[in-house]
Amino acid sequence: MSSNTLLRSVRALLRCTSRSPASPVGSPARRFLRATPVRLYYNRTGAGAADTGGSVPVLTVDLRSDTVTKPGPAMRRAMAEAEVGDDVFGEDPTVNELQKMATDIFGMEAALFMPSGTMSNLISVMVHCRERGDEMILGDLSHLHIYEQGGSAQLAGVHSTTVTTLPNGTFDLDQLDSKIRHGYPDAHYPRSRLVCVENTHNILGGRVVPLPFLQELRSLADQYGLALHMDGARLMNAAAALGVHPSVILKHCHSVSVCLSKGLGAPVGTMLAGSKDFIQRAVRARKALGGGMRQSGILAAAGKIALSDMPGRLDEDHRNARSFAEALTQCDPPLYQVDLAAMETNIVRFVLHDPGLSPTEFCELMGTVSEAEVDALGQGVSVLMFPHVGGTVRAVWHLGISEEDTQLAIKKAQFVAHQRSLTSGRGR
Ligand SMILES: Cc1ncc(COP(=O)(O)O)c(C=O)c1O
Repeated sequence: MSSNTLLRSVRALLRCTSRSPASPVGSPARRFLRATPVRLYYNRTGAGAADTGGSVPVLTVDLRSDTVTKPGPAMRRAMAEAEVGDDVFGEDPTVNELQKMATDIFGMEAALFMPSGTMSNLISVMVHCRERGDEMILGDLSHLHIYEQGGSAQLAGVHSTTVTTLPNGTFDLDQLDSKIRHGYPDAHYPRSRLVCVENTHNILGGRVVPLPFLQELRSLADQYGLALHMDGARLMNAAAALGVHPSVILKHCHSVSVCLSKGLGAPVGTMLAGSKDFIQRAVRARKALGGGMRQSGILAAAGKIALSDMPGRLDEDHRNARSFAEALTQCDPPLYQVDLAAMETNIVRFVLHDPGLSPTEFCELMGTVSEAEVDALGQGVSVLMFPHVGGTVRAVWHLGISEEDTQLAIKKAQFVAHQRSLTSGRGR
């Protein structure tokens, strides 16, 4: 499936999902949903539990998300020993150190420790769009638009206009230009204030937004006095893939939100960064939303390790993800289709060739250990993945997954393809 075809089916699915509650039974939307039982990212039912009756040790390779990482001994020690104070008073030394580190790494004037990526994006929107009814323009497949519950509308009173997300995470700048409102203060129009871009792009499988695009996007934003916010939940993956310092990417943006709790392995936290004035306003908005934390140095201590030690190992995740993707394309009998050209970071998305096997059923097979598997491979491996948008399956690499784990996941994927060929009679 080409990236464009995949994107068309993602959009069709999202249209059907949003229409489905009101659609009459048997309408095309309903039929499509029945025929394509794909669930979105946060579905927890995709992977089956490993069960061999307890006789054989079962290894688990958890590829559901890079949010599943657990802090290791060094991180836990740093958390236990962190010096703390009341951060709402600005008195937590560890939080202050983390914020200073982020400021330096991102090349911004100031940074603020946030409880989550969702709150960080929302606060950025609130600070950039200060008048009720202000408008932001963002990609139709962006996390902010699809997965953050419309918080910008429900909590910040901000109106969203979307542009079509292209397969590499960019958008057409002429289309973006055409969406900017010029009528303000005419009473008919909202005021365009903000453009948001996501890097790397989650739904599109960890795509890295190219630097020349960001440069052009910023010039367009400047031309109309718009702010540019980057949802850089996986910004450090983008920097690693491009082989550049994060500030090289961020010099094009007014603000950025970077998650510490994904590939960087911290248990909690996101950094929001921008100008001093932006961050002062963000401190107020964070308190209003209940995100002012007290002795949060315990969490910031893990964040400091996430920023200092973890970016250097992201290439390993990218390499392992690529080996897995390449192995899927070489699997015999063939079951998997992967767009290797779109494989840039730690997320692998693939399509199953077998129309009789849904992504949900496939994830159940990967997660379940059978006696046949133990007989054939000498051990049981439960590989956890999620059925993903547009009839795909998604697997994500992170610091809990080694090269050996990757080889186990490859073996399991080959085993499932082989078993499937036997049961469906599709094999040779
Ligand atoms: C691109 C992107 N932005 C924002 C978020 C939200 O982060 P959090 O789960 O910390 O709220 C996520 C989470 O997966 C994400 O992938």
